[in-house]
Amino acid sequence: MRVVTKISELRDEIQTFRSTHSDAKVGLVPTMGFLHEGHASLIRRSVTECGLTVVSIFVNPLQFGPGEDFERYPRDAERDTALAEAAGANLVFMPAVAEMYPRPLATRVLVSGVTDRLCGASRPGHFDGVGTVVSKLFHIAMPDRAYFGMKDAQQVAVITTMVQDLDMPVEIVPCETVREPDGLALSSRNVYLNEEERVQALALSRTLSRVKGWLDDGLSAQETAERMRQQINDVPLAELDYAEILTFPELTVPEGQLTSGTRWIAALAVRFGRTRLIDNRIFSGDEVSAHV
Ligand code: PAF
Repeated sequence: MRVVTKISELRDEIQTFRSTHSDAKVGLVPTMGFLHEGHASLIRRSVTECGLTVVSIFVNPLQFGPGEDFERYPRDAERDTALAEAAGANLVFMPAVAEMYPRPLATRVLVSGVTDRLCGASRPGHFDGVGTVVSKLFHIAMPDRAYFGMKDAQQVAVITTMVQDLDMPVEIVPCETVREPDGLALSSRNVYLNEEERVQALALSRTLSRVKGWLDDGLSAQETAERMRQQINDVPLAELDYAEILTFPELTVPEGQLTSGTRWIAALAVRFGRTRLIDNRIFSGDEVSAHV
């Protein structure tokens, strides 16, 4: 596995690969590092589907708002490269901020609609930063496929919309959320949690695991979201950011019932001290018994 820090080096490596493997696919796994088993599962999936797997590791300042955790975001380049290599990656791209943004950007990628609610509403500008950096990474690496975890379901919706709207020639591959054995969704930010917060953080997956039952009982989207809020508000250290039920992948407020052929997302963002965690579950009308 090679580690490169310059855009030109990455392009050269990929071009050399393509010139000698004309039929093989290039897979990109964009990350902000501090890799965990969730990232490893994306890398392994790319390795099984592509001849060359590139992992980008870049803590993107553009997607952090003022007062957010850009400075203290966990970083460990040595551990990350070891994990990427163990998962089978061929190339790691680890650029400095000055390599990605040598001067203030005059151009940004703004995706509207799917960014109106959830993290788009509570982290203004966040998805402008994500859309812009992912678009740059796609232009730099020109991958055939790009792999993203569904814990960030809104991010998947935003990137899919961007790729469709701008006819970017890359297939977005959404991959299932990886969880700890007790249900906590893996996140680089879990490392911030103290012991008590870690225990109470299970409220997210526990609440989401109850949603199907509430929908089966015939509760509306609004009633279900209210139940989710009550569950989180009962947890002493939890501070609710949002609990919503929306259509997926459009991320609009659902009208009526969940019917066959449609999907809803139950999405949560909750703060424990200075740590903000998100999680979600997606339900299809075909699996919710009260409405089929
Ligand atoms: O999901 C992430 O880690 C980031 O948002 C991404 C896609 C790497 C863009 O910086």
